[in-house]
Order: sequence, then C-alpha cells, then structure tokens
Amino acid sequence: MSLKDKLSELRQRGLADIKDSSDLKDVNQVRVQLLGKKGPITEVLRGMRDLDAEERPKVGAFANEIRDDLANALAQRKEELEKAVLNAQLAKETIDVTLPGTPVAKGEPHVIQQIVDQIEDLFLGMGYQVLSGPEVEEDKYNFEMMNLPKNHPARDMQDTFYITKEILMRTQTSPMQARTLEKHDFSKGPLKMISPGVVYRRDTDDPTHSHQFHQVEGLVIDKHITMADLKGTLQVLAHELFGDKFDVRLRPSYFPFTEPSVEADITCFNCGGKGCKVCKNTGWIEVLGAGMVHPNVLKMAGVDPDVYGGFAFGVGPDRFAMLKYGVDDIRNFYLNDVRFLTQFTKKG
Ligand code: DAH
Repeated sequence: MSLKDKLSELRQRGLADIKDSSDLKDVNQVRVQLLGKKGPITEVLRGMRDLDAEERPKVGAFANEIRDDLANALAQRKEELEKAVLNAQLAKETIDVTLPGTPVAKGEPHVIQQIVDQIEDLFLGMGYQVLSGPEVEEDKYNFEMMNLPKNHPARDMQDTFYITKEILMRTQTSPMQARTLEKHDFSKGPLKMISPGVVYRRDTDDPTHSHQFHQVEGLVIDKHITMADLKGTLQVLAHELFGDKFDVRLRPSYFPFTEPSVEADITCFNCGGKGCKVCKNTGWIEVLGAGMVHPNVLKMAGVDPDVYGGFAFGVGPDRFAMLKYGVDDIRNFYLNDVRFLTQFTKKG
C-alpha cells in the first residue's frame, strides 16, 4: 500500500474514531493515539525518508493536510462534548424561580435606640445640633470642668471606672457641655445641642442599676434664657414621648453644674396622677435632672457668665423605656434576648 493510501485510510479511521468518542476523556485518548509522537501519522512521516525527492513534498503536504483535518475534527468533537456536559449540568441545576424565598430576619432598632431616635428628631426640629462625644473621657471634662474639683464630695454620687488617674469611662454625658461650650462661637448665634450616648458607673447590676446605660444631655446657652424656657422644653419632650396628657413639674435638687438645680417629674403613667403604688401615691414620677448652668461651668469653658447663661438637662432613655413599657428590670435591655427585644419592634 502506498504511503498516500495509508494516509487516506488513516484519515478515515481517525475521523470514525473521533466521531465515536463519547466523552472528553475519550477524545483526548484518540488525540494522543492519532497525533502523538508514537502515532501512525508520525510513523508515516518517518517513512518518507525512503521516498524519492519528487514524491516527498507531495506526500508531506498530504500528511499535513490529514493531520490538520484530524486536529480540526478533534477540536470540533471536543467542543460538542463540552457543550453537552454543560447542557446536562444546566438541566440538572434548573432553578425554579417561582419557589417562595427563604425569609431573612431583618434587624430593627433596639427599644432604647428607638427612644433616642425620637428625642433626636424632636430636638433637631427645634434647631438643636446632635453631637456625640467620647466614652473614654478625661477627668477634666467629666468632673473638673463640670464644677466638680478633685475631692468634691459629689464625685461620690457617681462611682467611676478609672482607666488612669486622669482618664475614665464617662459617668455622664455632661462633659459634652464643657466640650461644646469651649468650642462654640457665640458671635454666630446661641448654642443649642443635645448629646446622646452611653455612660458607665461602677454599680452592681440589679433591677434598677446597670454598669452601663444611656443618657441624653441637653444644653442651651444664649443671652436671655430663663427657667421658663427649660420647663417649656421639658414639657415638649414629655408630650412627644408620652402624650399630651402628661405634665411636668420641677422640684428643687442639687447638681454641682447647675444653679438652681431641679429634678423633673412627669405625671404617673400608671394612675394618670391620682396616686398609686408605682408613684408612691404622689401622682408623679421622677424622670430627669436639669437646671440653669452654673456660672463656674461657663467661666471654666471661657464663656462670660455675666453675658451668657442657659439651661441644661440630662435624661435617661433607659428609664423612659422602663416607664413607658412597664419594664421592671433594666438588665433586660442589655441581655439581648430576642424574645424580650422583639416585643418593641414594629412586627412585635
Ligand atoms: N449628669 C447628671 C447625672 O448623670 C444628670 C444631669 C442633671 C444632667 C442635671 C444635667 C443637669 O445636664 O443639668 O446624674
């Protein structure tokens, strides 16, 4: 058989083998068999040495043509089989887009945060700035500039976590009064701000004490601010949080950074003011501390108390939440038990 005939036959056989290959592994095997170094085409080409010079290029060209044909057929078969594999996989993995989705639990603001948000919205609407301050605070701002020098007995009112002698976990949001007073440019207008945040006390946790809880500080300083402005502001706050039926009353109290100082009471939630066990028959419940900013606080922050003055208040959102929802243990807010927390979400 001439080399040419051998090659023709090889092509036929090769093409048939390629066609018969049933998977990608098969195709690869056929490729190695046909076109590999030990394959029949290489062998034929080796046999060309015995041909005469005239025949050699012709047979060579024919051999190349056959090799190309086979290579093309292999590539084509490979592509066909790859497509078939992909199609089979796609068919197997068909997704039913009409199936109902898996519900994902969606978070909602914590009950305390809901109250803080409500307070923020209210005061933003009245032209206040909302500021946040550091929880790791300097003694200077937390106490000293709030008119509580070292050894002042009222420091004991707030058991403190000290980090160093001068650095502590803030026990109140009041240091934000000193921080903002220090920076405020009164030529641009009055200072009106609230500052919500977390504060820390070295308290033993019990139903009414937590070593961390929330406060919202308020401060208004201008030229003609009176206690009536304070009372009006607290009334607006009580109405917003609890409803129009709730009234506010002020009682004299003591805080080192205010003079005079007051505690504000709100109509008892439980009895509406008639007197009951919750309000110890007074008809009132204490909700916050406030007062007219002490001249020393203004002076230490570089503000002239003969020209400027105003009021400050500190409210506890935790206490508000306890009163509003009848929660009798503050620790519930911090235990992160979803069964407790979801009672206060919209979904309930
Ligand atoms: N800082 C006080 C506390 O933690 C609360 C307070 C009382 C803040 C009177 C005030 C204020 O701004 O005027 O007990």
